[in-house]
Amino acid sequence: MAGRLDGKVSIITGAGSGIGAATARRFHAEGAKVVLADISGAQETLAKELGEGAASVHVDVSQGESVQAMVQCAVDTFGRLDVLYNNAGIDGDFFPVGELPEESWDKVQNVNLRGVYLGMRHGIPAMLASGGGSIISTASMAATVAFPTMASYCAAKGGVVMLTKTAAAEYAAQGIRVNSISPGTIETAITVHLPQDMIKAIIERNPVGRIADASEVASLAVFLASDESAFITGADYLIDGGYTLL
Ligand SMILES: NC(=O)c1ccc[n+]([C@@H]2O[C@H](COP(=O)([O-])OP(=O)(O)OC[C@H]3O[C@@H](n4cnc5c(N)ncnc54)[C@H](O)[C@@H]3O)[C@@H](O)[C@H]2O)c1
Repeated sequence: MAGRLDGKVSIITGAGSGIGAATARRFHAEGAKVVLADISGAQETLAKELGEGAASVHVDVSQGESVQAMVQCAVDTFGRLDVLYNNAGIDGDFFPVGELPEESWDKVQNVNLRGVYLGMRHGIPAMLASGGGSIISTASMAATVAFPTMASYCAAKGGVVMLTKTAAAEYAAQGIRVNSISPGTIETAITVHLPQDMIKAIIERNPVGRIADASEVASLAVFLASDESAFITGADYLIDGGYTLL
C-alpha cells in the first residue's frame, strides 16, 4: 500500500525525543525518507532502529553552519529536500520578566525562534532546487495565551507563528508551503521539566481533561507534510484539547 509521504525527503529536528521522535516514526512508516536531526545523540539510535530510508545528523539548530550542514546531509544522502519540520525546542528557566536573566532569555530565543529562522534560511534554497515542498514548525499554544514565568518561550513561539506567515507569503508562488503546529500540553521530556502544579492546573482547565501523546501531533504533521494539505499555507494549527477556547 502506498504511504501518504512516499519518497518525500524529510528533515525533522528534535527527532531524538518526544514530538520529533514520534513524527520521525510516522513519516518513515508513511514512506518518507527521513533525516533525524538532534543535538542529543538519541537520534542516532532511532535512525538505526528505523533502518533503510532513515539517516541521522547532529545539529545545533541555533548555529547557522550546523543547520546548513544538516540540510546538506539530507541532499547528499537522499538527493533532495521536500519536507522540513523545525521542531527542536527547549522550555528554559522560570522567572517573571522583571527577574529574567538575559542569558535565559537569549538561550530560549536562540533555539526556539532563531533555530526556526535558520531552518528556513538554509532549507528554503534546497527546497527551491527540489521544485518546492512543505515547511512545518512547532510553535505552541503559548503563542496564543500567556504562561507566567515563561516569557521568552511565549515570545519565541509567537515569533514562530509570524515567521511562518511571512515565509508562507514569500514562497507560495514558488511551491513552498509553510505552516506551524501549536500543541497544547503533550507528554514528553519537556513537560517533565515543567512545575507539577503548572501541569495540574493545565489539565484541570482543559475541556478534554487530559494532556496528549506525541503521536497525536505527529498525525497532524503527516497531514501538513503530505499533498493532502496542498491548499494550506501560512496557517497555525492549534492541537490543544480546547485549552485556549476558555
Ligand atoms: N511537550 C509539550 O507540551 C509542548 C507543547 C507545545 C510545544 N512544544 C514544542 O514541541 C517541540 C518538541 O518538544 P518536545 O515536547 O517533543 O520535547 P523534547 O524535550 O522531548 O524534545 C525536544 C528535542 O529537541 C532537541 N533540542 C533541544 N535543543 C536543541 C538544539 N539546540 N538543536 C537541536 N536539537 C535540540 C532535544 O535534544 C530534544 O530531543 C518544541 O519546540 C517544544 O517547544 C511542546
